[in-house]
Amino acid sequence: MSSGSELARKVVQDVSSDDLDKWVRSSTLTNEIEESIRGHIHQELTSWMFFRKLAADCFRTNIALHGYGMLWERCAQECLIDMHWLEKYLIARGGRCKPTAIEATQVEWPDNPIEPLGPCMEAFRVQKKLIDDIMRLIALADKCEDASLSDALQTRFLRKHTRQVKNMGDLLQQTARVSKQPGVGLYHLDKELRSHKGIIPWTSTNDPDCQDKGTEEVTSLISEGLVLQGQNSQHGRK
Ligand SMILES: [Fe+2]
Repeated sequence: MSSGSELARKVVQDVSSDDLDKWVRSSTLTNEIEESIRGHIHQELTSWMFFRKLAADCFRTNIALHGYGMLWERCAQECLIDMHWLEKYLIARGGRCKPTAIEATQVEWPDNPIEPLGPCMEAFRVQKKLIDDIMRLIALADKCEDASLSDALQTRFLRKHTRQVKNMGDLLQQTARVSKQPGVGLYHLDKELRSHKGIIPWTSTNDPDCQDKGTEEVTSLISEGLVLQGQNSQHGRK
């Protein structure tokens, strides 16, 4: 056998017997980081189940708060999307998925009487825990100089979760306000959520990026107006 084919066989042997995940993996992705990413995946899944439970409670006939139900369904969906994204990211970096058991939530939406504040406070805590964990992961990524993870988390998660915490805080405040007189206020708040298909209606008001877009639009309209005005006065002079 020629030395060329022997060399080719050796290369095939070397590649087949090696751990290719290690080839993909950068040295900055430490075991601690990998474990922490899996920890966040677990937290997203636990939060997913919590929001699913709140949604299911709100759709019960005894409660019939469909607007809140739609909102919790959206929150659950967000958790699932984030979990899926992070799992893909972990694999893309040469990590490994190790699913853990999801602990069931003990939270129930009280139906006699209907009391929305307790579950809303819990929803706020769940969102807050998610962003705290993201911040902890970013700090760990920075400590280990894993720029890729730090960037991915900041770009993909940080802004979104900051918005979600603020929106949830506002919902908690409004729910507390309408709960001072049970009944009609809650009906109207739920109706508002329902008419927006479960999207919190003040989301864009809280979003700094949307404010910038609004200002840009107004500025460009003013500039366009000034240009048009200038053109008209030039035409007038002719
Ligand atoms: Fe998330």
